[in-house]
Amino acid sequence: MIEFKDVQKVYQSGQQNIEALSNINLTIEKGDIFGVVGYSGAGKSTLLRLVNLLERPTAGEVKVNGKILTSLSKANLRKEKKDIGMIFQHFHLLQSKTVFDNVALPLLLNGSSKRKIKERVDELLSFVGLESKANNYPEQLSGGQKQRVGIARALATNPSILLCDEATSALDPDTTSAILDLLKKINQAYDITILLITHEMSVIRDICTKVAVMENGQIVEKGSVYEIFSHPKTEIARRFVRTVIHEHLPNSIIEELKNGQKTVWKMNFIGHSSSKPLLSTIAKKYDIDVNVLSANISEIQDTPFGNMIVEVTGEQTEIEKAFSYIQQEKINVQEVAGLD
Ligand SMILES: Nc1ncnc2c1ncn2[C@@H]1O[C@H](COP(=O)(O)OP(=O)(O)OP(=O)(O)O)[C@@H](O)[C@H]1O
Ligand SMILES: [Mg+2]
Repeated sequence: MIEFKDVQKVYQSGQQNIEALSNINLTIEKGDIFGVVGYSGAGKSTLLRLVNLLERPTAGEVKVNGKILTSLSKANLRKEKKDIGMIFQHFHLLQSKTVFDNVALPLLLNGSSKRKIKERVDELLSFVGLESKANNYPEQLSGGQKQRVGIARALATNPSILLCDEATSALDPDTTSAILDLLKKINQAYDITILLITHEMSVIRDICTKVAVMENGQIVEKGSVYEIFSHPKTEIARRFVRTVIHEHLPNSIIEELKNGQKTVWKMNFIGHSSSKPLLSTIAKKYDIDVNVLSANISEIQDTPFGNMIVEVTGEQTEIEKAFSYIQQEKINVQEVAGLD
């Protein structure tokens, strides 16, 4: 478990003070794949680097598995740090060392025996699918393979926490997807808590269980991935959600919406509950017409997530009754005044 309590981080750069983080309160539970999303400069890397003391908080507390790292003795801190692995956007591999030696490095620093190192590195390389590359050098590998080496190295000391700083941002979409699958497998097979930061909402959608949205050094929204995707509250969260859930409406309809001439509803469906029976039910039950303007389905954590925009016409009282009916069916529905 990772806990941030009233954390502030100020960098001093010449005469200037830069407040990179302020008022951070966040708990990451054991077993979570927790994503932090935000634009460049939001403070994501700073937040992540506080967890393994690559940076120290200016104020407040960061606790890892119940311990405040800044208050530990050197020896205890070394022990705790073994429990936290990290991977990077640009992999940070040692170019002059083979794949085997890169992965072996943390174990060597640990004083593990040669036999133990060989056993563990072989096991890790096989886990990440790189057995055949043990004697290659990083420059002979593709980006995805380099990140696999980074992952194997991060797991060498059997950490309970893995920190990922934009781990897939330098990779193409297919390779990204394979690395995300691997992270998911690590989370499940070893029960490792993953804290990842990204500027890509698709990464959050594909593997995270929870998400926090950062802006200007603050967390402006947090919740389960489903909550944020279905009810983004802040403008910035809505903007991120829209990068992966597209709502296409013809311009003419958007214009009419702006003029307030139409009743338009936005609905979200989770799981396999189909939208079709619902629409025909309300059209039969109430004296209204329903016209689908946009519909699409995406997946959040292997669960279908549908969103639909419909136009409703009819008497106001009938429209209101149909709206209540949908709410009773526990379907998330909201009236759209104008799409931004
Ligand atoms: N070592 C440093 N010294 C001074 N300022 C810093 C330092 N590191 C980061 N900052 C500043 O702190 C703020 C947050 O930076 P941070 O790297 O945490 O953002 P980020 O969200 O990770 O951005 P990106 O997506 O570009 O990686 C920025 O204004 C940045 O310029
Ligand atoms: Mg960063």
